[in-house]
Amino acid sequence: MRKKVTKAIFPVAGLGTRFLPATKSVPKEIMTLVDRPLIQYAIDEARAAGIKEFIFVTSRGKGALEDYFDHSPVLEQELRKKGKTDLLEALKDTNMESGAIAYIRQHKALGLGHAVWCARRLIANEPFAVILPDDVIAADKPCLQQMVEAYEEIGSGNMVAAMEVAPEKTSSYGVLDVSEDMGSMVRVKGMVEKPVASEAPSNLAVIGRYILSPNVLGNLNKIKSGAGGEIQLTDAIAAEIAQENAVYGYRFKGTRFDCGSKSGFLQATVSFGLAREELRDDLRAYLHDVVAMDKAAE
Ligand code: UTP
Repeated sequence: MRKKVTKAIFPVAGLGTRFLPATKSVPKEIMTLVDRPLIQYAIDEARAAGIKEFIFVTSRGKGALEDYFDHSPVLEQELRKKGKTDLLEALKDTNMESGAIAYIRQHKALGLGHAVWCARRLIANEPFAVILPDDVIAADKPCLQQMVEAYEEIGSGNMVAAMEVAPEKTSSYGVLDVSEDMGSMVRVKGMVEKPVASEAPSNLAVIGRYILSPNVLGNLNKIKSGAGGEIQLTDAIAAEIAQENAVYGYRFKGTRFDCGSKSGFLQATVSFGLAREELRDDLRAYLHDVVAMDKAAE
């Protein structure tokens, strides 16, 4: 019988060094795009895809993340007293059903593969999703929902979100070696981590959304016992191909922002700001002035 994807792992144990000094005390995932932290966008996307259990792999210093999903009785009482129903409504999205959220610690930042492996005991024999909150995807239909729908049609195997990138950018991504192109989906025969353009098997890059078979956790187990440095999730997925288990790339519809980088984060801030009706006119006028001033200064 086909199993539904109802659990998602959110690996949020990274050090976030690209945002130092901010990330010395603020977890990267709590940094805000307009007025919502990155993690809220990831949770909303997971909920839209039918995820019921949310597993966070955290680390030292990420306490603000746990508080974010807790009730805040004093604040809520105060807002109620003042009749601020719109703000109370906005807070609702931050509340989780009791028992729906779990936190596991990754004691050392040993890589994304290791972070996922840390959650292994919370995943039974069922496919599960992995969402990297610093990849923010603006889409009419949320990216993970697109993937879950496609995955349910296939019924088994593994699926990674994929996006075409410029040849000179392949060295920043895991890149897919494609055996069959079916349009919105490709069948994958290999994955290469951060290849230079001349060695990249394609320009289809892996983005931070995955639907994985529980087999991958077994593969991580094996890699873990042999690995010296970081444990890559890509290696555990590539091991699936070696075992003749299917791996698919899914060309999602939407715009991805790399909010793990400063430039991506700034672009996302502008884009999400422009998407908000109450901010659009002011922001657009400001951007217009900035560009005009910039041109005049040249
Ligand atoms: P990144 O490669 O962006 O690393 O991790 P990072 O530590 O978050 O940020 P920089 O590069 O130092 O600025 C991608 C995702 O994998 C998680 C991160 O939290 C992020 O969501 N991750 C990475 C872990 O959970 N554990 C790790 O050991 C490494």
